[in-house]
Amino acid sequence: MNLDYNNMMCEALGAQGISQGDIDALTPKIDAAVASMAKKHQGGGMWWRNLPFEQADVVKDILSYVEKMKPEIDAFVVLGIGGSALGPLAVQQALNHPYYNELPRERCKGFPRLYVVDNVDPERLVYLFDILDMKKTLFNVISKSGSTSETMSQFMIIEDMLEKQLGADEAKKRIVCTTDKSKGNLVTIARNKGYKTFTIQDGVGGRFSELSPVGLLPAAFCGIDIQGLLDGAADMEKLCREGVDYKNNPAYMYAILHYIAMQKGKNISVMMPYADSLKFISDWYAQLWAESLGKKYDINGKVVNAGQTPVKALGATDQHSQVQLYTEGPFDKVIVLIGVDEYKETIEIPKLYGDMPSLGFLGGVTHNQLIQTEQTATEYALTVSGKMNMTITLPRVTPQSLGYLLHFFEIATAFAGELMEIDAFDQPGVEEGKNAAYALFGRPGYEEKKKELDSRPKRDDRYLIG
Ligand code: PA5
Repeated sequence: MNLDYNNMMCEALGAQGISQGDIDALTPKIDAAVASMAKKHQGGGMWWRNLPFEQADVVKDILSYVEKMKPEIDAFVVLGIGGSALGPLAVQQALNHPYYNELPRERCKGFPRLYVVDNVDPERLVYLFDILDMKKTLFNVISKSGSTSETMSQFMIIEDMLEKQLGADEAKKRIVCTTDKSKGNLVTIARNKGYKTFTIQDGVGGRFSELSPVGLLPAAFCGIDIQGLLDGAADMEKLCREGVDYKNNPAYMYAILHYIAMQKGKNISVMMPYADSLKFISDWYAQLWAESLGKKYDINGKVVNAGQTPVKALGATDQHSQVQLYTEGPFDKVIVLIGVDEYKETIEIPKLYGDMPSLGFLGGVTHNQLIQTEQTATEYALTVSGKMNMTITLPRVTPQSLGYLLHFFEIATAFAGELMEIDAFDQPGVEEGKNAAYALFGRPGYEEKKKELDSRPKRDDRYLIG
């Protein structure tokens, strides 16, 4: 993988760009952030950085469980939300056939179809039952806290259905839990009911958990080489280890450039892969970047209302939707293009319509060349418009390169948090909404919150239409 940030710099963008002086001026802050990362890492608060190295037993357990269950099932359903859903979806889409679920199972070496049910839209769940055979489905309930209403409500519906349809003994074999080792309702239920359980280690928060059993178990059930993912992440971790000069550390450099960009008013972070396989990486990144960096207070309690809004785009599709804005609109974005040197397939455009110059030039060109050329052209258009952009290039999308990329973004996000002096690992804004929902449902312990909600200003009819 390489990170090309030429088009972030003033040499390419003129006054809109970042100068070497801007980076140099940040040296004391960078040094402090490096020291703080190291301290947190050594203190266990960033145990997710150890995941690539310290899961030999976990991988063994996952693979033997997959081997045991695979012949019994034709569908694997993830019940989870946020960090418990976006990673499994992104990895599956990146590495497997784009129509994986529709393929005959023998083309997938007998691995089951994958569904990720992250919402509580009633239609989504009810319609899913139309295509599942409950006797041949394994449900993976993933929740670090074990108390997330969306996930736990899905679990309760499904557990009840399974027990009624199959009886308690069979139902037990159709549920596998991924949760904290001791905290929360899910681990308690799993213990009481005897569900197979995988543990989310301490120091591994939801959005930093893709390389833990949260992501590894669904990936393994889709036939993905999970050791390959971890090996790729291990390579990135070594590259970013303490002692490596930040100039050679792509994750730190990514964070530094975004930090400076934010200081210059770029409060939007666009992620635009030029590969359908990486489309859902943008969704995963959006959560990582938004939930980690969008904070009201800094670590000293000062109100900062920090963060950069992530936007998901796909090349070349969104050239016909968003790029007009990116080139000619406000100077408020950093656009990250992700390219792939070698796609898994090649398809050539036939040499037709030679008499029509506006079509004839496409004859003999491959779609591979077309998408790559369009990427280069967009990069150029952004740059001549003075818009900050950088390009990440993967040689191929493989388990190794994907593990490398995921870990790169995780380290970059954590380091951006250090530079911004905010806590990248909490989500008080999400908790506020969760607590309000508990109060509205009258959950015991939330009486004060209910009173607070009840005393909120009534809606003003002047501002209601219809
Ligand atoms: O990153 C996070 O911590 C969150 O997005 C969580 O992943 C999400 O809220 C789900 O939480 P849990 O895994 O506790 O059910």
